[in-house]
Amino acid sequence: MNDASTVNEVQATPVRMLPDAQEVTSVQHWTDRLFSFRVTRPQSLRFRSGEFVMIGLLGDNGKPLLRAYSIASPSWDEELEFYSIKVPDGPLTSKLQHIQPGDQIILRPKPVGTLVLDALLPGKRLWFLATGTGIAPFASLMRDPETYEKYDQVIMMHTCREKAELEYGRQLVESLKDDPLIGEMVGDKLKYYPTTTREESERMGRITDNLASGKVFEDLGIPSMSAENDRAMVCGSMAFNIDVKAVLESFGLREGANSDPLEYVVEKAFVGDGI
Ligand code: FAD
Ligand code: A2P
Repeated sequence: MNDASTVNEVQATPVRMLPDAQEVTSVQHWTDRLFSFRVTRPQSLRFRSGEFVMIGLLGDNGKPLLRAYSIASPSWDEELEFYSIKVPDGPLTSKLQHIQPGDQIILRPKPVGTLVLDALLPGKRLWFLATGTGIAPFASLMRDPETYEKYDQVIMMHTCREKAELEYGRQLVESLKDDPLIGEMVGDKLKYYPTTTREESERMGRITDNLASGKVFEDLGIPSMSAENDRAMVCGSMAFNIDVKAVLESFGLREGANSDPLEYVVEKAFVGDGI
């Protein structure tokens, strides 16, 4: 046995021996850059739909390699679902993308985040504005009965470069109609407005442009946004978040927080796009 293999054996603590280990129950690949997976839920874990936790795997040095992930499943679900990017050289996702049912991941059960219903003042319409994996917190909130108890209408705008990147959200929205638990509550309250920006599709354009031009209001046959009626939650790249904030402010909406509920809240879908 050489030195290297001895070192590996000593450092390779199996994840299942860690206190925060959870078992992967299913994995679905959507594109070569996107996948979703479900894991067992720690019995003690309570969270508010829209929050995120730290999850990960053991790194090569034997230490936990953790990243922030929005919980994509609703708070009533007995398992936890996540929707993930695959970054080719990403320290975590270059490995995480290979998980299989039966594998273990690390999950720190300390949920936090601003994309929660309590961080908004009461209103009539709730807008979910997401690019890319930013749809994850809304995959949770779209399945939460409280969303439909609090709002007359919920509008999910999701924009990606290509059609295949919309598929996770499209199938989820489609499945809600027949969901035995919340199908009736969702009814026709939920409007889904997916667009692509680089591949030709039925509906195109950036969320910022479709809001600022009024196209989305025309297409859905609804009045323009107002601070009186509309509330919004935003989750995308930093560039998207900055630009969409300016559009929301132009309609008179103000940014709130858990401690100071107002008309809209924002969370980063990831860090590191240079802004
Ligand atoms: P990292 O070193 O973390 O990232 C490398 C680079 O990849 C980044 O600099 C960035 O340019 C790019 N990148 C990272 N994540 C994304 C992404 N999601 N979409 C597009 N480009 C990205 N990621 C998810 O896939 N799903 C989630 O639900 C999710 N929720 C998050 C919630 C919060 C509050 C934050 C701050 C981040 C979240 N992320 C999410 C990003 C996640 O924490 C990791 O960055 C991601 O899993 C990649 O990890 P990595 O170690 O492979 O690469
Ligand atoms: P576009 O193709 O016009 O750049 P990305 O894959 O780069 O994270 O982008 C995901 C989606 O978000 C794309 O459809 C992209 O449109 C859109 N997007 C990126 N930056 C912004 C922004 N600043 N404002 C609005 N939409 C944006």
